[in-house]
Amino acid sequence: MSFPEERPRRLRGNAAWRQMVRETDLDPARMVLPLFVVPGEGVREPVVSMPGVEQRSVDGTVELAREAAAAGVGGVILFGIPESKDPQGTAAWDPDGPVPSALRALRREVPDLLLWADVCLCEYTDHGHCGLLTPDGEVDNDASLPLLSRAAMAYADAGAHAVAPSDMMDGRIGRIRTDLDTQGHQEVVVVSYAVKYASAFYGPFRDAAHSAPSFGDRRAYQMDPRNGREALREARLDEEEGADILMVKPAGPYLDVIRDVRAISDLPLAAYQVSGEYAAVMGAVGNGWLDEERVALESLTGIRRAGADIMITYWALKAARWLG
Ligand code: PBG
Repeated sequence: MSFPEERPRRLRGNAAWRQMVRETDLDPARMVLPLFVVPGEGVREPVVSMPGVEQRSVDGTVELAREAAAAGVGGVILFGIPESKDPQGTAAWDPDGPVPSALRALRREVPDLLLWADVCLCEYTDHGHCGLLTPDGEVDNDASLPLLSRAAMAYADAGAHAVAPSDMMDGRIGRIRTDLDTQGHQEVVVVSYAVKYASAFYGPFRDAAHSAPSFGDRRAYQMDPRNGREALREARLDEEEGADILMVKPAGPYLDVIRDVRAISDLPLAAYQVSGEYAAVMGAVGNGWLDEERVALESLTGIRRAGADIMITYWALKAARWLG
């Protein structure tokens, strides 16, 4: 059968049909809102390259998280900007640092929201790399593992429901899982940024988190954007090491990778719609060239349709309201 008997438009003719036959649903319960926590009180600093995003101190973070929970957003992921930085990133595991302080407050004040803590050293090291450096300025994989794990334990101690290592060191998932289990945190979920590319789309985030490397780039630890098969290897390894949830990042330019990882793993799959994906659209929105709501929801629908169960997105709160 073909035209004129076949007419796909029959099922598009009105909203009721479109709703009935839609293949993809967006639900804010699947969304995670990134929050940038700074020291102090009453601080609300707009991130210039990410219109609508702010760095906030713990009090304002709690306020925003409360709004997110009320709108139906499933969770938040916390990034910290510390008072001071050093070569080891010791502020990453300071129990009084911005992230642990926010976690304790959020556990108390917004009990229904899932709290994820990003685990990385780049916001905490003075050189801005995601691990410890050797004397010749290389990122030292194995020496970084105990430091990353220490940060993860500090967040688990402070009440994180999930820790999410984004550093891309080999072996960190296994190390963190073992340490969590031996330190009484068997219930804490490990979300692995398993497939994280060395992407130009992270630019605005590095303004927001003050985490740009002071020299070089991250290509010796983050993945080469040209590689797809390697994503499957990274995903398998992290699953074997004990990850509970896998992640692909960025999302929009890597929909093929989301689809391929979805096909080889039974774990829930998250995708991170990163700062540059958001900033690119918001720049056009600011010029009146794109409709924010429609473009944001369409981009999230694409990520979901590709196979992501969970979406980390700067639009989480707005999306929840638009969908509500
Ligand atoms: C930390 C980290 C980064 C992002 C999340 N965790 C930056 C980076 O790797 O340089 C990027 C998120 C975004 O761009 O929204 N390593």
